[in-house]
Amino acid sequence: MKQIALLCFLLSGWSLAQPEPANLIGNIPNRTSISLNGTWRSIVDPYDAGEGFRFYKNAKPKNNRDLVEYDFDTSPTLNVPGDWNSQRESLLFYEGTLWYEKSFQYQKREHTRTYLYFGAAAMRATVYLNGEKLGQHEGGYTTFNFEVTDKIQSGDNFVVVEVNNQRRKDAVPATSTDWWNYGGLTRDVKLVEVPETFIQDYSLQLVKGSTDEVAGWVRLNGAKAGQQVTIEIPEAQIKKVVTTDAKGNAEFRFPARLKLWSPNSPKLYNVVVSGAGDKVQDQIGFRTIETRGTKILLNGKPIFLRGISMHEEAAFRGGRAFSAEDDQTLLGWAKELGCNYVRLAHYPHNEGMTRLADRLGLLVWSEVPVYWDTAWTNPATLENAEEQLRDNVARDHNRASVILWSVANETPIDPARTEFLKNLTTYARSLDDTRLITAALNRTSSPEPGTRILDDPIGEYLDVLGMNEYLGWYEGKLEDTDKAIWKNAFGKPLIVSEFGAGAPAGNHGDPDSVWTEEFQANFYEHQIKMVTKIESLAGMSPWVLMDFRSPRRFLPGVQDFRNRKGLISDRGERKKAFYTLQEFYRKKAAEAEASSAEAK
Ligand code: GCU
Repeated sequence: MKQIALLCFLLSGWSLAQPEPANLIGNIPNRTSISLNGTWRSIVDPYDAGEGFRFYKNAKPKNNRDLVEYDFDTSPTLNVPGDWNSQRESLLFYEGTLWYEKSFQYQKREHTRTYLYFGAAAMRATVYLNGEKLGQHEGGYTTFNFEVTDKIQSGDNFVVVEVNNQRRKDAVPATSTDWWNYGGLTRDVKLVEVPETFIQDYSLQLVKGSTDEVAGWVRLNGAKAGQQVTIEIPEAQIKKVVTTDAKGNAEFRFPARLKLWSPNSPKLYNVVVSGAGDKVQDQIGFRTIETRGTKILLNGKPIFLRGISMHEEAAFRGGRAFSAEDDQTLLGWAKELGCNYVRLAHYPHNEGMTRLADRLGLLVWSEVPVYWDTAWTNPATLENAEEQLRDNVARDHNRASVILWSVANETPIDPARTEFLKNLTTYARSLDDTRLITAALNRTSSPEPGTRILDDPIGEYLDVLGMNEYLGWYEGKLEDTDKAIWKNAFGKPLIVSEFGAGAPAGNHGDPDSVWTEEFQANFYEHQIKMVTKIESLAGMSPWVLMDFRSPRRFLPGVQDFRNRKGLISDRGERKKAFYTLQEFYRKKAAEAEASSAEAK
């Protein structure tokens, strides 16, 4: 009965209470901070007994009769950042709770507030400082922070984090994914120091559809009304002073003659936001992104997205990618492939990745892990999906590279699902109406043999349609691609967000035998011919840049718990199909060059 009531409630188009605004501190990389990265003590807790034992107290026996049945100081260590699965053979498949502890010295300073910041904790975390609970976070790929000004002390401190990566039906993602369920403190942990009144966050972007006017806002934390904040773009001789309202917020808009950011010239400006005793610097690119009919327009001109999909998995050493080197390797390969765009699948990747995309000139599809079947009628699931979306937007809203917010991947067509996603798209637009909203769809109808129409009802609520198709791999024969016709029912730009075939690097044979590099290359030739016939095609991001770990890939000697659809192996070997796609992108880039020269 409750389910039906809830379904009716969802179908009524009402979305349940939306999450609180993000309380994230923006632009952490450019803040004063102390890293807590390094080795942390760890206790594996498969039976969730740690809370009962009060691990968060990090207790020591007071005397020889005092019974304390755990001791972080003599417990094994784990590196942070880092997933636990790839650090210890015994934890490769571990799914459950693991406790982390880090002792550190700190010196409190006058007029300074301190925050404990996490780049991510997979998949959920409860955080304690000096034995006191700070709070919890649900979602394995988004940042979170807690103010600890009154809890941290000068001298000795210890932080204890209970991390759990158990898959749950009502979680986002739910219980089934084609990627490894890495657990742990997978990204940076820092103490961030800010003045008593500080610049919590700000946004600067070109006004929608304009290339010579900037609009934005700034939010102070701890501000009195009427505070002056200055926004400067020194290189463009721009200096704008605004005054905050009682809540510490101010909005602004001003004319600006700026060099536009694009993949060919990823121009970033040094931006300085200062006021109320705080000053933050950032590197921001300015570009416009919109659609017109079936075209995606960057800075007012149509652009074809030459892309590749990728997971946030480190090449060579494996495990969750987190470092500048990890990110450089992956995005460097995308550039070598001739890409001007990457699909960061299926969850927000680390901040270093999107900031590097800004510098390298790679457009970004950024996604929240509403993946396959999800608890569509569960209000808590919707709220958490919205929280992950909110925090993803809050972290990356100043990144020129990010042009697409994706709200889902391959979800079944069902009224509750469509309502769930409709709510997410509405929420996404309320968070950021300057970027394009999309989702990766994979259900089509077929009015006649060989013709497929992407007419998934959620398409109505998207700006750009993503379509995953595996014709010639999971479905049909390679030859079917030669006569296949794809259409979209919405007259909107369509990105073929996935197609791919598997082949272990070095496995050679005839082009009709699956698992050979020759078959994969042959598959790409057929697919490229097929998708380039799609009238509304505005881009593509084949599946996938690099082989990656998956708990759903079993074939011994071929997959060995890896999805082998990479164009590059996890050891960096480029497969034949890498060059097939590179060649196609070379041609596309030359065409774009020629047509923009003509347009001048
Ligand atoms: C799906 C899915 C991917 C998956 C891929 C595959 O389309 O979106 O996450 O890895 O197909 O089957 O290889």
